[in-house]
Amino acid sequence: MGGRLGLSDEEKDEMIVTPWEVKGRVDYERLIREFGTQPLTDELLRKLAKYTGEVHLQLRRGLFFSHRDLDTVLELYEKGTRFVLYTGRGPSGPVHIGHLVPWIFTKHLQDAFDTRLYFQMTDDEKFLVDDERELDETSRMGYDNALDLIALGFKPRNTYIIYDVEDIDLLYDIALEVAKRITYSTAKATFGFQESTNLGWVFWPAVQAVPCFIHKKLTGENVPALIPAAIDQDPYWRITRDIASKLGYFKPAQIHNRFLPGLGIGGKMSASEPDTAIFTVDSPDVVKRKVWRAFTGGKSTVAEQRKEGANPDVCSVYQYFLYLFEEDDRKLAEREHLCRTGGILCGECKKDLADRINRFLAEHQKKREKAKDEIQKYHIKR
Ligand code: TRP
Repeated sequence: MGGRLGLSDEEKDEMIVTPWEVKGRVDYERLIREFGTQPLTDELLRKLAKYTGEVHLQLRRGLFFSHRDLDTVLELYEKGTRFVLYTGRGPSGPVHIGHLVPWIFTKHLQDAFDTRLYFQMTDDEKFLVDDERELDETSRMGYDNALDLIALGFKPRNTYIIYDVEDIDLLYDIALEVAKRITYSTAKATFGFQESTNLGWVFWPAVQAVPCFIHKKLTGENVPALIPAAIDQDPYWRITRDIASKLGYFKPAQIHNRFLPGLGIGGKMSASEPDTAIFTVDSPDVVKRKVWRAFTGGKSTVAEQRKEGANPDVCSVYQYFLYLFEEDDRKLAEREHLCRTGGILCGECKKDLADRINRFLAEHQKKREKAKDEIQKYHIKR
């Protein structure tokens, strides 16, 4: 840490977005430019809505903002080529509410298109990239985290969870085909590998590519995969897209979401500060405490706030309403207006939010318990 002391505020806030680290103020426009992805246009959203019947809340509110080949996938679909969905989770600890965002959207797509989902639990990845972590720990977390996925209502009929370590025999041949066609120099340039990077980590991206292609091996049907995921995963898809056609597959398509902000200053969420994230297993009192301490855009005194209003743009509490906990556009706009004009105080918003989160979690936790009896039905080897 000492090395950062001499940095200016601007440097400290410098954006870093890799699959293993997200830091600083995230500039999404810049990510689109630097990663070379496409912005989600209104026209494309309308095209999607032709099949889904509505523009999903997460699209309307700009939570998903970028894509690769979503247009191609829809064109193929129109001509009769289906697609599969693929997403995943690095089981490094309990699931927090932000992780649910792309999963909720994935469920929406799955329902609309009645398509198969492959879900990868990367217990191997989390073991390799963290010096401190033991393999039995990340594997155990993988089965635990699967309960959160199942609790969202996915059906076993078309949901296939892959636990990398347990299921490696199913993945290994495709991983080899992929790995053989990616040079070390490409991988190094894409992921920033160093002399000190362990060998497992260097090979590992080939494993994340596998579920893009596995449907053909399992069913004989060659169709593209569409991946809803946070944009930090994009480097994996870049190298996968490069080699897909060499192996006779479609390039995987993506739709990218923003990161759900944490409750810390400037929307920070950090694993080292567990109070900045709400985990799905948190008790009502813990939720209340975390929301109570959340960073808002409020003024330092009530009088000042009543007079000048507050700023929802920087407020983590408002972001939670926007992304997850206020589905009614009109009510959201009303809350925003009240906030800006001093008609509502941060304490009131915090109370509302804590109540909503707790209502959601009470249900979620019940479903999570029930999922313990069902988990085997979702395993890719069942
Ligand atoms: N690497 C991801 C993580 O650390 C896990 C993952 C594997 C994933 N396959 C994916 C995420 C596909 C999104 C989409 O969280």
